[in-house]
Amino acid sequence: MDHFLTFSLLSLLLSFAAAGDFSDDQLIRQVVPEEEQSVNLLNADHHFSLFKAKFGKSYSDEKEHDYRFSVFKANLLRAKRNQLLDPSAEHGVTQFSDLTPTEFKQRYLGLKTPAFLESAQKAPILPTNNLPEDFDWRDKGAVTGVKNQGSCGSCWSFSTTGALEGAHFLATGELISLSEQQLVDCDHECDQDGVCDAGCNGGLMNTAFQYTVKAGGLQLEKDYPYTGRDGKCQFDKNKIAASVANYSVVSVDEDQIAANLVKNGPLAVGINAAWMQTYVKGVSCPYICSKNRLDHGVLLVGYGAAGYAPIRFKEKPYWIIKNSWGESWGEDGYYKICRGQTHDICGVDSMVSTVAAFQSTSE
Ligand SMILES: *[C@@H]1O[C@H](CO)[C@@H](O)[C@H](O)[C@H]1NC(C)=O
Repeated sequence: MDHFLTFSLLSLLLSFAAAGDFSDDQLIRQVVPEEEQSVNLLNADHHFSLFKAKFGKSYSDEKEHDYRFSVFKANLLRAKRNQLLDPSAEHGVTQFSDLTPTEFKQRYLGLKTPAFLESAQKAPILPTNNLPEDFDWRDKGAVTGVKNQGSCGSCWSFSTTGALEGAHFLATGELISLSEQQLVDCDHECDQDGVCDAGCNGGLMNTAFQYTVKAGGLQLEKDYPYTGRDGKCQFDKNKIAASVANYSVVSVDEDQIAANLVKNGPLAVGINAAWMQTYVKGVSCPYICSKNRLDHGVLLVGYGAAGYAPIRFKEKPYWIIKNSWGESWGEDGYYKICRGQTHDICGVDSMVSTVAAFQSTSE
């Protein structure tokens, strides 16, 4: 795609965006030229075989197989379109390539939409001079291995445990893996607008922190292991391993987010996951990704000054996001999304929480 085409696509996109409230996917379909959409799908059979082998997919019967193949072909086209509109990342076949966008959203996301984000305490404004150019909590031992939420809309619980695992590490010097299942089974906390945590049917990180304060803390992953299903609460107060001292909302400002990250540890963030179903690697910096459709809870663990990007798009600074779809998704389970843009990409700045842990866990 040449420079001129990129530019005209971009202006088209902006005019569509100004025109009304299209879904991102609708928008993308309308601005990519027809000839680009009719990619050669002769090889789809072959790609589908590779996909099934790589991700161990099997289908109940031929009807289901044929249906999944048709979804897979549609997703090959979507990945192609996404590639055009997000050139600094690589889009292609992922473990989710046989799911429709609706199925994907129902099964693998799970962030609810609060009416207001402002109900929680606000984090104090921090100085932002002398922030490091690059920063990564993984290098400092504050981040557990990538986990897998499975087919359950429990992303919010992984974002919550990740933030508390980091805060606990900062408070105690000890890295422990905490229980998402406790949150899935036991946390039915609601925010002031009646949006409630509901296991595999979704939840919010701030209400999960609120639950954790009330419950006294979270158990270890190994004492209350993840099943990926809604279950009966089996919380044992005597086995609390980490406790929340306080939590607060970070202001919508990239420097404040970076300063809170560096000072307080990994942050719980909401994101619009529209580009994540086809993401393979690189710095995702789509031309359009609304901040008004936050649907996934993830963990912000670091940032970089300059990620690899094709020459004409320059080097892009990025955030490093820990996801909960296992290590075989993205860059060993991680996502890079660009920062320092004129607009807030995929809402990554919009719902950010920081948490502090108590130094000692037993009362
Ligand atoms: C949160 O708790 C930590 C640890 O007890 C404390 O140092 C910090 O000042 C508290 N922050 C807020 C905003 O209350």
